[in-house]
Amino acid sequence: MGEAKDEKALPGISLRQFEQSDVDHFMAWAGNDQVTQFCRWDTFTCREEALKYLKEVVIPHPWFRAICLENRPIGSIYVSPGTEKDRCRGEIGYALSSMYWGRGIATSAVTTAVASIFRDLPNLKRIEGLVFAENKGSQRVLEKAGFTKEGLLRNYFTVKGKTRDIVIYSFLPSELSC
Ligand SMILES: CC(C)(COP(=O)(O)OP(=O)(O)OC[C@H]1O[C@@H](n2cnc3c(N)ncnc32)[C@H](O)[C@@H]1OP(=O)(O)O)[C@@H](O)C(=O)NCCC(=O)NCCS
Repeated sequence: MGEAKDEKALPGISLRQFEQSDVDHFMAWAGNDQVTQFCRWDTFTCREEALKYLKEVVIPHPWFRAICLENRPIGSIYVSPGTEKDRCRGEIGYALSSMYWGRGIATSAVTTAVASIFRDLPNLKRIEGLVFAENKGSQRVLEKAGFTKEGLLRNYFTVKGKTRDIVIYSFLPSELSC
């Protein structure tokens, strides 16, 4: 599982594995409520908690990458593969520091990630994205990256004190462009 190189990626944007020394960069988005309001995980409140997460979850994870600008992490992207009978599918998640929003970076990262994920995890036959219905920006990212909208899952998750409608998207290996 090497670093992703993609001719379609935006200049200066690349994906690479996290290192423990990325912890302060990681806090820039993972410690920001404006970013995490649309995520199912909670805002990181201290550097130590983030370092533990990098060490115990991110670095050993089967596919978790830093979205980098000139090799400096400005966001994260990962796929969580299913287990047992769900092994054919994985759920993609991503987040970007708010100062970089609106430049096409997440779309570029998702496009690069999807190709890499299918190459690195050959058992995966489907990548899905589950997006809060109110998160229009993330839905647009998946649409621009070529995902298919499959529908609305009503009252699907209770997260952060609220029961949410979820828009579900998917991408299959046969939909990769050469
Ligand atoms: C969602 C997120 C990753 C998008 O990153 P980004 O780099 O700004 O995304 P892009 O620039 O590639 O594309 C964003 C698109 O959404 C559109 N958009 C943004 N906010 C929108 C809104 N409220 N309504 C409609 N469209 C919106 C943008 O105009 C753009 O589309 P366009 O290129 O057609 O103009 C980023 O905002 C983020 O980290 N949000 C918080 C975490 C999160 O939501 N993660 C996903 C959980 S499913």
